[in-house]
Amino acid sequence: MTTEHLIDDAKEMLEEKINEKPKAGLVLGSGLGVLAEDIEDAVKVRYEDIPGFPVSTVEGHAGQLVFGRLQGVPVVSMQGRFHYYEGYTLQEVTFPIRVMKALGVDTLLVTNAAGSVNESFAPGQLMLIKDHINLQGDNPLIGKNDERTGPRFPDMSSAYTPALMEKAREAAKKQNISLQEGVYAANTGPNYETPAEVKMIRTMGADAVGMSTVPEVVTAVHGGMKVLGISCLSNMAAGILDQPLSHDEVIETTNKVKEDFLALMKEILLVIGKG
Ligand code: 6GU
Repeated sequence: MTTEHLIDDAKEMLEEKINEKPKAGLVLGSGLGVLAEDIEDAVKVRYEDIPGFPVSTVEGHAGQLVFGRLQGVPVVSMQGRFHYYEGYTLQEVTFPIRVMKALGVDTLLVTNAAGSVNESFAPGQLMLIKDHINLQGDNPLIGKNDERTGPRFPDMSSAYTPALMEKAREAAKKQNISLQEGVYAANTGPNYETPAEVKMIRTMGADAVGMSTVPEVVTAVHGGMKVLGISCLSNMAAGILDQPLSHDEVIETTNKVKEDFLALMKEILLVIGKG
């Protein structure tokens, strides 16, 4: 079965369950899935029940789509995402983005936990993603292109929508939340980088490094969606502090920054809802 057919099947199945067409799509990263718990009149659909969806394996990821309203905005939220390092192809990783697009989503809000490569940032801070660097050595758009979805050679000069970045800055100011800005580099993982790799990534011009987001953003831009990206800086990348990195630290810091994250995302949705 072709991807296009699977997208149609997923769309059809989901449209039977939901009351309203979602406007914004949310991808919630490690430890950030709590935002979906605030969705009103929630309709939850487990990934394993959706045609074409891969099944999530990582702990701490609920693995479901949550439809409903957040701050009055009709949303669909991915509670848990698929990672390349889990063994999925990038086409599988980005399948949910295609489905969101088919359902009518025009704005994608992507979030992640990332390591800070920029030495002047601190763990626990949030970073607005201005641009990205794809270091995954793969691309979700490789293969036959469906012109109905998007162009063969999509432009990435403003992958992160400038007007949405401005709204995020305003939202951060209003909520008194410090919001760093920078470039996100995506590696495959699952290991964290070596200090030499972190130095290379910094030299390339990145401020944060993670294992996700870029495939979803490339797919969303290809499909003509507006995109906003927020990183939760859970730790400093290797070689900056004299301490090893652990997944526990990532989860712990993400828990601490949760309140700021929730307040920022809700404020952003409020602004999106207005126009
Ligand atoms: Cl330091 N590296 C990568 N690739 N992903 C991360 C991270 C670091 N910290 C959180 N996620």
